[in-house]
Amino acid sequence: MRIPDFELERYLNALEFSATHYVCGSDVEGYRLDELLALASTEERTQFEKLSLGYTTAPGMDALRDEIGKLYTTASREHVLTFAGAEEAIFILMNVLLSADDHAVVVWPAYQSLHEVARATGASVSLVELHESAAWKLDVEALRSAVTAKTRLIVINFPHNPTGATLDRASFDAVVEIARDAGAYLLSDEVYRFSEHDERDRLPAVADVYERGISLGVMSKSFALAGLRIGWLVSNDTALLERCASFKDYVSICNSAPSEVLSLIALRNREKVIARSLEIIRANLVVLDEFFTRWEGTFAWVKPRAGTIAFPSINTHMPIDKIARSLVEQEGVVILPASRFGHPGANFRIGFGRRTLPTALAAFEKGATRLGLRTGG
Ligand SMILES: Cc1ncc(COP(=O)(O)O)c(C=O)c1O
Repeated sequence: MRIPDFELERYLNALEFSATHYVCGSDVEGYRLDELLALASTEERTQFEKLSLGYTTAPGMDALRDEIGKLYTTASREHVLTFAGAEEAIFILMNVLLSADDHAVVVWPAYQSLHEVARATGASVSLVELHESAAWKLDVEALRSAVTAKTRLIVINFPHNPTGATLDRASFDAVVEIARDAGAYLLSDEVYRFSEHDERDRLPAVADVYERGISLGVMSKSFALAGLRIGWLVSNDTALLERCASFKDYVSICNSAPSEVLSLIALRNREKVIARSLEIIRANLVVLDEFFTRWEGTFAWVKPRAGTIAFPSINTHMPIDKIARSLVEQEGVVILPASRFGHPGANFRIGFGRRTLPTALAAFEKGATRLGLRTGG
């Protein structure tokens, strides 16, 4: 298999751990181990400390799959398969589902694996674009038109990376109907689920409403545990999950045992974990709103409805890549320019899942002032 570089990962790999102000991450401020273990019961703490560090069961520990199942209304253990992060799940699912004769429809801009891995299987891929001018709202009719007789997979990701947009319920239902009419699988990348800024915006999981629906989840985002590398697929199609399990034997084989137990502790305490994430997100959103009000006219700010990221644009003739480079060099501020999504706009991804956002934003503002970005300035 040949696959192009993952632009976002290559870019962030070089900067994430070296720059002073990382202001584009999509994860929530990671738990410290002692902070997470403080949530554990005495039995769970003992389970963690006495853990045998051998191989674990290939689909994931039973108790963990039971707990993941509780995030859904129709899933039990056999409907859950775990992976090394959401990333491995995407890679394996696409390889199992798609081949050269197939067609996939993917909502875009997107986390690159969602279209690139699909393409690397030899399948043809149609992108359905979200537009800033439409407040990143999905054009359901455009998605319907992209579907052909060969469409085997439709891929959506709401809450969305990089815009923080989500779907209204009617559009969500329409997408499910489009998939059902086409007899296509519907992969719903739901890694930002549970971080809706208003809980009423939470959509059903696709696996709960569609027989060929596949929900993708992970510990990295709303559960603030990216370093555990635990993700999962949930589907009623157990034969499909079985094929993914066979493929996984060639990739990670099984999860890291400590990560499984720590995930279990977090999921059993999910209300507290999610409340912690939302507290960080909501406080940072206030700071961001103030910033974009102060800079009105310079930035287009479609306020995100969910998750930890947004995709504003700058109203300037200076190319966004040049701005991003200068901010890294002079202020040590890392934003993620749209080009890393293959997107031509003057947009950039900003992340607000970390407690350092106010300081990082102050450094960003200093850089924007230095560069004379203020419209008319
Ligand atoms: C939409 C989306 N899907 C999947 C992933 C992969 O998640 P993980 O890195 O936890 O495997 C990410 C990570 O940023 C993402 O934003």
